[in-house]
Amino acid sequence: MGHQHVGFGKWAHTYDGGIQGKVARWFYRAVLTSDIWSGCRVLDVGCGTGRLLTLLADRGAIGSGVDVSPEMVAVAQAANPQMDIREGTAEHLPFEDAAFDMVVTCLAYHHMDARETFLAEAVRVLVPGGRVVIVEPRLGVLRRLVNAAFGAHGHVERFATAGEIRADLTGHGLAPVRTRTHRLTLLVEAQAEDTGDGS
Ligand SMILES: C[S@@+](CC[C@H](N)C(=O)[O-])C[C@H]1O[C@@H](n2cnc3c(N)ncnc32)[C@H](O)[C@@H]1O
Repeated sequence: MGHQHVGFGKWAHTYDGGIQGKVARWFYRAVLTSDIWSGCRVLDVGCGTGRLLTLLADRGAIGSGVDVSPEMVAVAQAANPQMDIREGTAEHLPFEDAAFDMVVTCLAYHHMDARETFLAEAVRVLVPGGRVVIVEPRLGVLRRLVNAAFGAHGHVERFATAGEIRADLTGHGLAPVRTRTHRLTLLVEAQAEDTGDGS
């Protein structure tokens, strides 16, 4: 099955003003509870219209983005002309090794066809000791129902629990440092091994 971006392109110009965009702001706030320092190099995977990147830049981060939808990339790039925003997939990040201090993915993890490949890619583009931040909807008791509904329509979308996300991260050598659940948001943050070799 192809990547789950099908349909996102047509939302590129209406996403921010619609209900999805309004709800997405709660999720951006969750990301912003992470330690974002001046000069922190952040890659937003599945960056959509790039609004989270703008908020990260407001806190001094040096933002880059990637999205599988060319329409989304165009909107995100127009909103953040100083940033490096590329068309590409989470499973094959079009960036160099060890280029980022943080990899963020907000409301996109459940769309990814191959999370294992994404996590291996996230580790590759992170510096030693860098962090991955995954933010997803917290569906609680509705999760199984929603997953079944997506499954019935042939989508791979699968909303994970915090425990499942932590296990995914641990499986890639990332040490969970923080889980935050707040209303509808779920954030799991983990750290890549710090090899201490100064690279
Ligand atoms: C629900 S939107 C979230 C956008 C943005 N992160 C936000 O929080 O507003 C999901 C985004 O992920 C992108 N996407 C889906 N699957 C992807 C993949 N495998 N690689 C890269 N981007 C992907 C879609 O094109 C879309 O822009």
